[in-house]
Amino acid sequence: MTGELSPIDKAKFVAAKRAVDFIEDGMRVGLGTGSTAAWMVRCLGDLVRNDGLKIKGVPTSTRTAELARDVGIEVVTLDEAKWLDLTIDGADEFDQELNLIKGGGGALLQEKIVATASDQMIVIADVGKEVESLGAFPLPIEVIPFGWKTSKSLAEELLVSMDVLGQDVTLRMNDDKPFVTDEGNYILDLHLGRIGNPHQMAMVLNQIPGVVENGLFIDICDVVILGYGDGRVETR
Ligand code: 5RP
Repeated sequence: MTGELSPIDKAKFVAAKRAVDFIEDGMRVGLGTGSTAAWMVRCLGDLVRNDGLKIKGVPTSTRTAELARDVGIEVVTLDEAKWLDLTIDGADEFDQELNLIKGGGGALLQEKIVATASDQMIVIADVGKEVESLGAFPLPIEVIPFGWKTSKSLAEELLVSMDVLGQDVTLRMNDDKPFVTDEGNYILDLHLGRIGNPHQMAMVLNQIPGVVENGLFIDICDVVILGYGDGRVETR
């Protein structure tokens, strides 16, 4: 499955492989989105096909649903599963308090709903995702297409009122067109540099009309499994 991996892919793979050790027979498992989560889905598929592990997977995107089915995982909706034992997902950044920025892959809305409906969330990450303070990675917010320019202006005004200097808000694009999420929404990326108070930021962003959700995951992640390019794994 792995062949010759680059150090970054090896780091993602070893974190993913360690994380599936937490999955037990009969569990209902949230399946994250992104390149690290894709390794986890492939590792889990191996356990299902080769070791007869029986689980139900709730994917957080159409991409992950397709991969999960391809590797033999039984896929159910969150409403069918009702509540999950565990969610395993990647992240764009995590800090010492295990707060996260997610949504680099545009799946933050389903990812947050699924992680919140889980007894436990494990994040898998390569070592480059660990930061002192969140914000170097642009913070995504998902907005409905109607009036998105107004939502963008309101987000800019909000950032000015919060004394966030040098901020910039951009519409995420895909081949000259707005990137569209699985829910048919757009993504605004907030280039903040540093987020002084992630709790406050997460709360106020969701007050803007048209904002569906933001990519700050506060007090949701329980454990981070960190992979290194030389194959070492650490837990935070
Ligand atoms: C998708 C996400 C991903 O988990 C995040 O972007 C990390 O991706 P990758 O594992 O490819 O670095 O939040 O919405």
